[in-house]
Amino acid sequence: MKQADLIWMNGEFVAWEDAKVHVLTHGLHYGTGVFEGIRCYDTEVGPAVFRHREHLERLRKSGSLYYMDLPYDVEQLRAATHELIARNGLRSCYIRPLAFRGYGQMGLFPLEAPVDVTIAVWEWGSYLGDEGKQAGVRAKVSSWRRISPDSLIPHAKASGQYLNSVLAKIESHKAGYEEAILLDDHGHVCEGSGENIFVVQDGVIATPPQTASILDGISRKSAIQIARDLGFEVQERDIARAELYLADEVYMTGTAAELVPVREVDDHAIADGRPGEITRAVQSAFEDALHGRTERYREWLDPVPAAQPAGGAPAAKVA
Ligand SMILES: Cc1ncc(COP(=O)(O)O)c(C=O)c1O
Repeated sequence: MKQADLIWMNGEFVAWEDAKVHVLTHGLHYGTGVFEGIRCYDTEVGPAVFRHREHLERLRKSGSLYYMDLPYDVEQLRAATHELIARNGLRSCYIRPLAFRGYGQMGLFPLEAPVDVTIAVWEWGSYLGDEGKQAGVRAKVSSWRRISPDSLIPHAKASGQYLNSVLAKIESHKAGYEEAILLDDHGHVCEGSGENIFVVQDGVIATPPQTASILDGISRKSAIQIARDLGFEVQERDIARAELYLADEVYMTGTAAELVPVREVDDHAIADGRPGEITRAVQSAFEDALHGRTERYREWLDPVPAAQPAGGAPAAKVA
């Protein structure tokens, strides 16, 4: 992992190697944290964060689903992120805001533990690799089901919930695949370990609905809009496992992975095993949007203002 110089911690800019927590941090023990994965691209309009406010809004909502109000509002976190990117001198990077129950209270009742907020940025290539984006990845349907809304909150991007993705990811990796696909608790197709999923059949695109325990992905939403703008029909509906095997095309979307074709599921080649035409069309328009090459989607980009001289006031906490 390529480190940056500074990390933002509770309103202060600290050196990367000094961004530390106590071993009795509540979130380390019980997973009581929420986080985001965001990307900044070196675009036609300079370094710009993709759908920045939507990601920070989802962070705030994830916190509130776990009764954890963040001590900074969206605008403060947005400004802090801009400053962090600029001070680190980065033009493109991955951005990881994290809010977690901190040190001071153990036991399962967390509401008296403090809420700490950190933001880290670093250079990070596409999660499933450039080759995966070009040629497609091989995926395996996991034996682990996606967390059920009976037990946890699929709509929250919460730290502890990711043990589910971690198990699926390890299983697929050990079996020699690049990614896992999880079914929901009804056996319908849900999503990848860190991506939403789309299936194309007879020219129509389908993706699992909100009720299928998905994370409401921001790349998913963007890819749906782009596909519709290109004139394709996109349905949000339940998808059976066999539809993956029989599909003409399958692709996944996520901030870390971006838009990645799937060329095989459980050793069934998807069509001829090469990314299909619709996947390519949506992928190319999606890449254009990320990099600010399309006027129509410029509003999705939040340009990073140039670095201010060091010593500016850090964001204050919400009273
Ligand atoms: C479990 C899961 N599903 C889907 C996604 C895709 O969401 P987004 O497009 O907002 O990054 C992610 C990544 O954040 C994820 O972790």
